[in-house]
Amino acid sequence: MATILDGREVSRIYRERLKEEIEKYTSKGFRKPSLAVVLVGDDPASVVYVNNKRKACQKVGIESIFHHLSEDTEEEKLLQLVKELNEDPKVDGILVQLPLPKHINPQRVIETIRPDKDVDGFHPENMGKLIANLDSGFIPCTPLGIKILLDHYGIDVKGKDITVVGAGYIVGKPLSVLLLNNNATVTVCHIYTRDLKKHTLNADILISATGVPHLIKEDMVKDGAVVIDVGISKVNGKIVGDVDFERVKTKASYITPVPGGVGPMTITALLLNTFKAYKLHIESVC
Ligand code: GUN
Repeated sequence: MATILDGREVSRIYRERLKEEIEKYTSKGFRKPSLAVVLVGDDPASVVYVNNKRKACQKVGIESIFHHLSEDTEEEKLLQLVKELNEDPKVDGILVQLPLPKHINPQRVIETIRPDKDVDGFHPENMGKLIANLDSGFIPCTPLGIKILLDHYGIDVKGKDITVVGAGYIVGKPLSVLLLNNNATVTVCHIYTRDLKKHTLNADILISATGVPHLIKEDMVKDGAVVIDVGISKVNGKIVGDVDFERVKTKASYITPVPGGVGPMTITALLLNTFKAYKLHIESVC
Protein backbone atom coordinates (compact mmCIF):
# COMPACT_ATOMS: atom_id res chain seq x y z
CA MET A 1 0.00 0.00 0.00
CA ALA A 2 1.32 3.40 -1.00
CA THR A 3 2.53 6.13 1.33
CA ILE A 4 0.42 9.27 0.90
CA LEU A 5 2.31 12.34 -0.29
CA ASP A 6 0.58 14.78 2.03
CA GLY A 7 0.55 18.16 0.31
CA ARG A 8 -1.39 19.76 3.16
CA GLU A 9 1.17 18.76 5.78
CA VAL A 10 4.20 19.68 3.65
CA SER A 11 2.53 23.00 2.85
CA ARG A 12 1.94 23.66 6.54
CA ILE A 13 5.65 23.18 7.23
CA TYR A 14 6.81 25.38 4.33
CA ARG A 15 4.26 28.11 5.02
CA GLU A 16 5.19 28.22 8.72
CA ARG A 17 8.85 28.69 7.73
CA LEU A 18 7.90 31.34 5.17
CA LYS A 19 5.81 33.23 7.74
CA GLU A 20 8.86 33.39 10.02
CA GLU A 21 11.05 34.59 7.13
CA ILE A 22 8.57 37.33 6.27
CA GLU A 23 8.40 38.40 9.94
CA LYS A 24 12.19 38.85 9.93
CA TYR A 25 11.76 41.50 7.20
CA THR A 26 8.69 43.25 8.60
CA SER A 27 10.19 43.38 12.11
CA LYS A 28 13.11 45.32 10.60
CA GLY A 29 10.63 47.90 9.30
CA PHE A 30 10.24 46.68 5.73
CA ARG A 31 6.75 46.70 4.20
CA LYS A 32 4.86 43.42 3.79
CA PRO A 33 5.19 41.46 0.53
CA SER A 34 2.17 41.93 -1.71
CA LEU A 35 0.45 39.97 -4.45
CA ALA A 36 -2.10 41.46 -6.85
CA VAL A 37 -4.69 38.84 -7.78
CA VAL A 38 -6.82 39.54 -10.85
CA LEU A 39 -9.97 37.56 -11.61
CA VAL A 40 -12.04 38.23 -14.73
CA GLY A 41 -15.58 36.82 -14.53
CA ASP A 42 -17.14 34.40 -12.06
CA ASP A 43 -16.06 30.92 -13.15
CA PRO A 44 -16.92 28.94 -9.96
CA ALA A 45 -13.68 26.91 -9.88
CA SER A 46 -11.59 30.07 -10.43
CA VAL A 47 -13.45 31.87 -7.63
CA VAL A 48 -12.55 29.00 -5.24
CA TYR A 49 -8.88 28.93 -6.37
CA VAL A 50 -8.52 32.70 -6.05
CA ASN A 51 -10.08 32.71 -2.58
CA ASN A 52 -7.74 29.91 -1.47
CA LYS A 53 -4.73 31.82 -2.78
CA ARG A 54 -5.79 35.03 -1.02
CA LYS A 55 -6.42 33.26 2.31
CA ALA A 56 -3.03 31.54 2.09
CA CYS A 57 -1.35 34.92 1.49
CA GLN A 58 -3.01 36.45 4.51
CA LYS A 59 -1.94 33.58 6.79
CA VAL A 60 1.77 33.97 6.01
CA GLY A 61 1.77 37.77 6.07
CA ILE A 62 1.55 38.54 2.35
CA GLU A 63 -0.87 41.30 1.47
CA SER A 64 -3.22 40.32 -1.34
CA ILE A 65 -4.79 43.04 -3.46
CA PHE A 66 -7.84 41.72 -5.26
CA HIS A 67 -9.12 43.07 -8.58
CA HIS A 68 -12.37 41.43 -9.64
CA LEU A 69 -13.38 42.44 -13.16
CA SER A 70 -16.62 41.56 -14.91
CA GLU A 71 -16.82 38.78 -17.54
CA ASP A 72 -17.31 41.34 -20.36
CA THR A 73 -14.20 43.39 -19.51
CA GLU A 74 -12.37 44.42 -22.69
CA GLU A 75 -8.88 43.08 -23.24
CA GLU A 76 -7.47 46.64 -23.37
CA LYS A 77 -8.93 47.39 -19.92
CA LEU A 78 -7.26 44.31 -18.45
CA LEU A 79 -3.94 45.15 -20.12
CA GLN A 80 -4.21 48.68 -18.69
CA LEU A 81 -4.71 47.29 -15.18
CA VAL A 82 -1.70 44.97 -15.58
CA LYS A 83 0.42 47.94 -16.71
CA GLU A 84 -0.65 49.93 -13.65
CA LEU A 85 0.26 47.01 -11.39
CA ASN A 86 3.62 46.72 -13.20
CA GLU A 87 4.38 50.32 -12.26
CA ASP A 88 3.09 50.13 -8.66
CA PRO A 89 6.12 49.86 -6.33
CA LYS A 90 3.95 48.30 -3.60
CA VAL A 91 3.10 45.29 -5.80
CA ASP A 92 5.63 42.43 -5.83
CA GLY A 93 3.67 39.80 -7.73
CA ILE A 94 0.87 39.83 -10.29
CA LEU A 95 -1.38 36.82 -10.82
CA VAL A 96 -4.08 36.87 -13.50
CA GLN A 97 -6.23 33.79 -12.91
CA LEU A 98 -6.64 31.55 -15.96
CA PRO A 99 -8.66 30.64 -17.93
CA LEU A 100 -9.72 34.09 -19.15
CA PRO A 101 -13.00 34.76 -21.01
CA LYS A 102 -12.80 33.75 -24.69
CA HIS A 103 -12.57 37.31 -26.06
CA ILE A 104 -9.30 37.91 -24.19
CA ASN A 105 -5.99 36.59 -25.55
CA PRO A 106 -4.20 35.05 -22.53
CA GLN A 107 -0.79 35.21 -24.21
CA ARG A 108 -1.07 38.99 -24.66
CA VAL A 109 -1.94 39.35 -20.99
CA ILE A 110 0.91 37.08 -19.85
CA GLU A 111 3.40 39.00 -22.02
CA THR A 112 2.26 42.31 -20.51
CA ILE A 113 3.11 41.25 -16.95
CA ARG A 114 6.58 42.50 -16.01
CA PRO A 115 8.83 39.40 -15.76
CA ASP A 116 10.11 40.37 -12.29
CA LYS A 117 6.49 40.36 -11.03
CA ASP A 118 5.41 37.26 -12.95
CA VAL A 119 5.09 34.94 -9.94
CA ASP A 120 3.16 32.43 -12.09
CA GLY A 121 6.30 32.03 -14.22
CA PHE A 122 4.29 32.10 -17.45
CA HIS A 123 6.03 35.02 -19.19
CA PRO A 124 8.24 33.79 -22.07
CA GLU A 125 11.26 35.35 -20.33
CA ASN A 126 10.66 33.16 -17.27
CA MET A 127 9.90 30.09 -19.39
CA GLY A 128 13.15 30.79 -21.27
CA LYS A 129 15.08 31.04 -18.01
CA LEU A 130 13.62 27.69 -16.95
CA ILE A 131 14.84 26.09 -20.18
CA ALA A 132 18.23 27.75 -19.74
CA ASN A 133 18.25 26.42 -16.14
CA LEU A 134 18.85 29.89 -14.68
CA ASP A 135 17.81 30.53 -11.08
CA SER A 136 16.92 34.19 -11.58
CA GLY A 137 13.44 33.53 -13.05
CA PHE A 138 10.21 32.18 -11.63
CA ILE A 139 9.28 28.52 -12.04
CA PRO A 140 5.52 27.94 -12.63
CA CYS A 141 3.81 27.11 -9.35
CA THR A 142 2.49 23.58 -9.96
CA PRO A 143 5.81 22.21 -11.28
CA LEU A 144 7.69 23.92 -8.44
CA GLY A 145 5.21 22.63 -5.86
CA ILE A 146 5.59 19.06 -7.17
CA LYS A 147 9.39 19.29 -7.01
CA ILE A 148 9.25 20.55 -3.41
CA LEU A 149 6.86 17.71 -2.48
CA LEU A 150 9.14 15.05 -4.03
CA ASP A 151 12.20 16.57 -2.33
CA HIS A 152 10.44 16.62 1.02
CA TYR A 153 9.84 12.86 0.85
CA GLY A 154 13.41 12.21 -0.31
CA ILE A 155 12.30 11.09 -3.78
CA ASP A 156 15.25 11.85 -6.07
CA VAL A 157 14.36 12.29 -9.74
CA LYS A 158 17.94 11.90 -11.03
CA GLY A 159 18.17 9.06 -13.54
CA LYS A 160 14.52 8.07 -13.05
CA ASP A 161 12.17 7.32 -15.93
CA ILE A 162 9.43 9.90 -15.50
CA THR A 163 6.31 10.01 -17.65
CA VAL A 164 4.35 13.26 -17.69
CA VAL A 165 0.85 12.89 -19.12
CA GLY A 166 -0.33 16.26 -20.46
CA ALA A 167 1.81 18.84 -22.23
CA GLY A 168 0.00 22.06 -21.33
CA TYR A 169 1.65 25.46 -20.86
CA ILE A 170 0.80 25.69 -17.13
CA VAL A 171 1.94 22.25 -15.93
CA GLY A 172 3.14 19.58 -18.40
CA LYS A 173 5.64 21.58 -20.46
CA PRO A 174 7.40 23.48 -17.68
CA LEU A 175 7.30 20.42 -15.39
CA SER A 176 9.04 18.30 -18.05
CA VAL A 177 11.78 20.89 -18.36
CA LEU A 178 12.18 21.19 -14.59
CA LEU A 179 12.55 17.41 -14.27
CA LEU A 180 14.99 17.30 -17.18
CA ASN A 181 17.04 20.05 -15.47
CA ASN A 182 17.19 17.68 -12.50
CA ASN A 183 18.57 14.87 -14.66
CA ALA A 184 15.45 12.72 -15.03
CA THR A 185 14.70 10.84 -18.25
CA VAL A 186 11.42 12.47 -19.21
CA THR A 187 8.70 11.22 -21.55
CA VAL A 188 5.89 13.67 -22.31
CA CYS A 189 2.54 12.24 -23.45
CA HIS A 190 -0.37 14.17 -24.97
CA ILE A 191 -3.55 13.60 -26.93
CA TYR A 192 -1.65 12.43 -30.01
CA THR A 193 0.40 9.86 -28.09
CA ARG A 194 -0.30 6.49 -29.72
CA ASP A 195 0.19 4.07 -26.86
CA LEU A 196 -0.25 5.90 -23.56
CA LYS A 197 -0.15 2.73 -21.47
CA LYS A 198 3.26 1.72 -22.86
CA HIS A 199 4.70 5.00 -21.56
CA THR A 200 2.90 5.04 -18.20
CA LEU A 201 3.91 1.44 -17.46
CA ASN A 202 7.57 2.34 -18.00
CA ALA A 203 7.47 5.16 -15.45
CA ASP A 204 9.28 5.08 -12.10
CA ILE A 205 7.44 8.35 -11.46
CA LEU A 206 4.13 8.95 -13.23
CA ILE A 207 2.66 12.44 -13.24
CA SER A 208 -0.74 13.11 -14.77
CA ALA A 209 -1.98 16.63 -15.57
CA THR A 210 -4.85 16.20 -18.02
CA GLY A 211 -8.09 16.96 -16.18
CA VAL A 212 -9.56 13.68 -17.47
CA PRO A 213 -11.17 12.00 -14.45
CA HIS A 214 -9.70 8.56 -13.64
CA LEU A 215 -7.69 8.39 -16.88
CA ILE A 216 -4.90 6.52 -15.07
CA LYS A 217 -6.03 3.00 -14.15
CA GLU A 218 -4.27 0.38 -12.06
CA ASP A 219 -3.12 -1.61 -15.10
CA MET A 220 -1.28 1.46 -16.44
CA VAL A 221 0.99 1.79 -13.39
CA LYS A 222 4.24 -0.07 -12.72
CA ASP A 223 4.54 -1.85 -9.36
CA GLY A 224 6.17 0.48 -6.83
CA ALA A 225 5.86 3.62 -8.97
CA VAL A 226 5.46 7.10 -7.50
CA VAL A 227 2.17 8.57 -8.74
CA ILE A 228 1.47 12.30 -8.79
CA ASP A 229 -2.03 13.47 -9.66
CA VAL A 230 -2.41 17.07 -10.84
CA GLY A 231 -5.99 16.70 -12.10
CA ILE A 232 -8.96 18.30 -10.40
CA SER A 233 -12.40 17.47 -11.81
CA LYS A 234 -15.88 17.45 -10.39
CA VAL A 235 -17.81 14.21 -10.97
CA ASN A 236 -21.30 13.95 -9.45
CA GLY A 237 -20.44 16.77 -7.06
CA LYS A 238 -17.24 15.05 -5.87
CA ILE A 239 -13.68 16.29 -6.54
CA VAL A 240 -11.63 13.60 -8.30
CA GLY A 241 -8.22 13.49 -9.94
CA ASP A 242 -6.77 11.96 -13.12
CA VAL A 243 -5.87 8.82 -11.17
CA ASP A 244 -8.17 6.01 -10.03
CA PHE A 245 -6.80 6.55 -6.51
CA GLU A 246 -8.45 3.66 -4.64
CA ARG A 247 -7.08 1.00 -7.02
CA VAL A 248 -3.77 2.62 -7.95
CA LYS A 249 -2.77 3.16 -4.29
CA THR A 250 -2.43 -0.62 -3.86
CA LYS A 251 0.27 -0.70 -6.56
CA ALA A 252 2.15 2.56 -6.05
CA SER A 253 4.93 3.21 -3.50
CA TYR A 254 3.86 6.84 -3.04
CA ILE A 255 0.75 8.63 -4.25
CA THR A 256 -0.82 12.09 -3.97
CA PRO A 257 -4.48 12.33 -2.95
CA VAL A 258 -6.98 14.68 -4.61
CA PRO A 259 -7.75 16.96 -2.87
CA GLY A 260 -4.85 17.49 -0.46
CA GLY A 261 -1.89 16.59 -2.70
CA VAL A 262 -0.63 18.85 -5.47
CA GLY A 263 -3.27 21.60 -4.96
CA PRO A 264 -1.92 22.98 -1.67
CA MET A 265 1.66 22.66 -2.99
CA THR A 266 0.79 24.88 -5.97
CA ILE A 267 -0.35 27.60 -3.59
CA THR A 268 2.73 27.13 -1.40
CA ALA A 269 4.93 27.61 -4.49
CA LEU A 270 3.00 30.80 -5.33
CA LEU A 271 3.73 32.16 -1.84
CA LEU A 272 7.42 31.26 -2.22
CA ASN A 273 7.60 32.92 -5.64
CA THR A 274 5.94 36.05 -4.25
CA PHE A 275 8.49 36.17 -1.44
CA LYS A 276 11.28 35.75 -4.02
CA ALA A 277 9.88 38.73 -5.98
CA TYR A 278 9.58 40.74 -2.76
CA LYS A 279 13.22 40.14 -1.82
CA LEU A 280 14.33 41.24 -5.30
CA HIS A 281 12.27 44.43 -5.01
CA ILE A 282 13.30 45.19 -1.43
CA GLU A 283 17.00 44.66 -2.25
CA SER A 284 16.76 46.90 -5.31
CA VAL A 285 15.65 49.88 -3.15
CA CYS A 286 18.17 49.27 -0.30
N1 GUN B 1 -5.34 28.37 -13.59
C1 GUN B 1 -5.01 27.09 -13.28
N2 GUN B 1 -3.78 27.03 -12.71
C2 GUN B 1 -3.32 28.30 -12.67
C3 GUN B 1 -2.11 28.88 -12.19
O1 GUN B 1 -1.18 28.21 -11.69
N3 GUN B 1 -2.03 30.22 -12.31
C4 GUN B 1 -3.01 30.98 -12.87
N4 GUN B 1 -2.81 32.30 -12.96
N5 GUN B 1 -4.13 30.47 -13.32
C5 GUN B 1 -4.29 29.14 -13.22
